Amino acid sequence: MRITFKNSAGVLLLAVSGALIGGCANTESRPEVAEPTDEEIKQLMISSFKEKGIAKLDRVNQTELQKACSLAESDPGSLTDAKRVKLQEAALAAVKFPVDGKYLGDWKAGEKLAQTGVGFQFSDKEGTAAGGNCYACHQLAPEELSYGNLGPSLYQYGKLRGNSEEIMKYTWVKIWNSHAYNACSNMPRFGAEGILTETQMKDAMALLLSPDSPVNK
Ligand code: HEC
Repeated sequence: MRITFKNSAGVLLLAVSGALIGGCANTESRPEVAEPTDEEIKQLMISSFKEKGIAKLDRVNQTELQKACSLAESDPGSLTDAKRVKLQEAALAAVKFPVDGKYLGDWKAGEKLAQTGVGFQFSDKEGTAAGGNCYACHQLAPEELSYGNLGPSLYQYGKLRGNSEEIMKYTWVKIWNSHAYNACSNMPRFGAEGILTETQMKDAMALLLSPDSPVNK
């Protein structure tokens, strides 16, 4: 039996549990099991994922980019460099930059949203303001000792990179849609998916780039 998970990038992750439960008794007598098709995996996910509250079944529908990245998990050759570049270019072209041209908001509000993972959960009400949950994957301010490491440490991000227009733009794009620079990134697409508002993204930017932010002390 196979259990299928979908990570934040919508990439299908497969964990073979049958082999674990069965132990390593007698591999020779085990019948060949055919790889499930993409459609079978999707149907399995649909049957095991129950709609609850605001979490609807459309969440299992993948974008073209997510489909390409899922396929590349089992067939790396399927995602050619040319295709990868094309997907990234399309993601980049859709990025919306701040209307007033200002990138930095309030780092204190940024720290709060980096700490909160509320929003889009089945237990949340429609329209609940979402957080960024950045600490779930990144180290940021050194005062916060509890952080995940799926993403790189962002401690001293601004101190190390400065805040040139180029760095501001790069960081904005990364937060808006991480796939624009890394097609199969596991980071949520905060702008592209409407998770954070423009103001919230500016606050996250200030947390990373403002010289006053504890991230840069
Ligand atoms: C589910 C995990 C996850 C969450 C949540 C997450 N990130 Fe990331 N982030 C990643 C991963 C993985 C990478 C590295 C891969 C990549 O660059 O796409 C990354 C890369 C980055 C980078 C680029 C770092 C570099 O060295 O260039 C920035 C900036 C960033 N994240 C900011 C944020 C901010 C701000 C938040 C919260 C609003 C956040 N991330 C939330 C997983 C996450």
